Amino acid sequence: MNDMKLAEKAVRMSEAKISARDVNVFYGDTHAIKDVSVDIADRTVTAFIGPSGCGKSTFLRCLNRMNDTIDIARVEGEIRIDGQDIYDPSIDPVQLRAKVGMVFQKPNPFPKSIYDNVAYGPKIHGLARSKADLDEIVERALRRGALWEEAKDRLHQPGTGLSGGQQQRLCIARAVATEPEVLLMDEPCSALDPIATAQVEELIDDLRKNYSVVIVTHSMQQAARVSQKTAFFHLGNLVEFGETGQIFTNPKDRRTESYITGRIG
Ligand SMILES: Nc1ncnc2c1ncn2[C@@H]1O[C@H](COP(=O)(O)OP(=O)(O)OP(=O)(O)O)[C@@H](O)[C@H]1O
Ligand SMILES: [Mg+2]
Repeated sequence: MNDMKLAEKAVRMSEAKISARDVNVFYGDTHAIKDVSVDIADRTVTAFIGPSGCGKSTFLRCLNRMNDTIDIARVEGEIRIDGQDIYDPSIDPVQLRAKVGMVFQKPNPFPKSIYDNVAYGPKIHGLARSKADLDEIVERALRRGALWEEAKDRLHQPGTGLSGGQQQRLCIARAVATEPEVLLMDEPCSALDPIATAQVEELIDDLRKNYSVVIVTHSMQQAARVSQKTAFFHLGNLVEFGETGQIFTNPKDRRTESYITGRIG
């Protein structure tokens, strides 16, 4: 590679997938997120950690405009994905949420079959030209969700009939079925046993090859295992953001240190 190409590559790699500037969120009079600016990289797992109520879920929801669905929530500041302002009036939040998928704390499959849970998004977004196409999309998504082997013989049974861990992997398959570029996960393992947790963690590591993944977790061990970058929130502030290894071994802020050593939270 010549110098010019190397320089171009360096610029591309330093570009953030998600770029937030001076973000503030209010719920009525509650100031839940305070002047948060952060760059989130592509093909990286970023963990959001911090004590209960510090604003992790609130900030996560800003990234695909889920706060729009909360009447009293008001979001200020700028959030760009691939350089595009996601709060611009021209942006359709439904399209945005297909591009920026989300997995919640509690597995929430639709009251439909396993197949239809996964097929729903691709159908409404017109991603399949034929039934065969759709079958292929569903299989690929279930494979990515590490659920195919367990689900392939019961695709037309209700998703709610799966175990909790399987339901969560179904929700992940559903989220990846629309080919998102960013995957937001709010405590995706809190309802899972250690085996299902390990499966989901393995899956997150695999998803990183194709996506920018942001995960909220209360488990410091989990953040250390799955993420490359960690953001520590405290009372609505983003106190510290950096390499996961550095945050856990050599935090710069006293509040981060207190949290990771168990003194606050
Ligand atoms: N829908 C809502 N209406 C009003 N206030 C809210 C709402 N959601 C969150 N808040 C408030 O915003 C602040 C941040 O809450 P948030 O849920 O983002 O915290 P969190 O870090 O995700 O906490 P946890 O770890 O307990 O999930 C809290 O003070 C909370 O009470
Ligand atoms: Mg939360």
